[in-house]
Amino acid sequence: MEAKWETSPAGQPADWSLVALPDEAGQRNSWEITIPNGLGYILEFKKNLSAPVLGLKEWERSDRPQMVGLIYYSFRVMSGIGFFLAGLMLWTVLKWLLGDLSGEKIAQQKWLLRAWIFAAPLGYIAVESGWIVRCVGRQPWTLYGQIRTADAASHLPASNVLTSLIAFATIYSHLQLCCISR
Ligand code: HEM
Repeated sequence: MEAKWETSPAGQPADWSLVALPDEAGQRNSWEITIPNGLGYILEFKKNLSAPVLGLKEWERSDRPQMVGLIYYSFRVMSGIGFFLAGLMLWTVLKWLLGDLSGEKIAQQKWLLRAWIFAAPLGYIAVESGWIVRCVGRQPWTLYGQIRTADAASHLPASNVLTSLIAFATIYSHLQLCCISR
C-alpha cells in the first residue's frame, strides 16, 4: 500500500510517501513526493519509530505481491474518498447547525449540493478500490503464509465456469422478470 521497498529501522524518523511511481523491476520508486518524518507521525504520533517498518525487499519476490503501483494507488483512491466523504459530512453538519439547510435556504447551498451529487458514486469506487487493495495486495497468497493462490485456484476449465455463470445469470434474470411482471 505504501510502495515501501527499504526497511526503516527503529529509533529513527522515516518519510511517508504521498505520490510515487513504483518501479517493480528496479525495486524502487522512480520518483516520489514524500512528507518528511511523516511515517512516525502517522503510525505513532511521534517522530521516531519505536519498531522497524519492514520494506518489501525483506521478502522474496515470489512471496510478495506484484503490481505494487496498482495497490498503492487503489489505497490512495480509497482513503482519499474516505477523507473526502468525512469532510463533506462535517461541512454538511456545520451548515445544518448554522441553519443553512432549512427549506428556504438550502437551494442557496449550490456547492454543497454539487459536492453531494459528486459524492454519489464515490462509495462504490472506494469499495472497489478497497477490494483491489485487499485482494491484489494479498497475492500470491489465498491465506497468508498458509496457502498460495496458485494452489487454491480451481482446475475447472474456464468454459465450465462461463457456462455456469451464464446459467445463473439467465435463471436469476428470469426470476427477477417474473417478480417485476407480477
Ligand atoms: C481514510 C479512509 C480509509 C482507510 C485508511 C482505509 C483503509 C483500508 C485498509 C488498510 C484496507 C486493507 C485491509 C486489509 O489489509 O485487509 C482496506 C480495505 C477495504 N476498504 Fe478501506 N479505507 C478507507 C476508506 C474506505 C471507504 C470510504 C470504503 C468504502 C466506502 C472502503 C472500503 C474498503 C473495502 C471494501 C476493503 C476491502 C475489505 C476486504 O475485502 O476485506 N475503505 N481499507
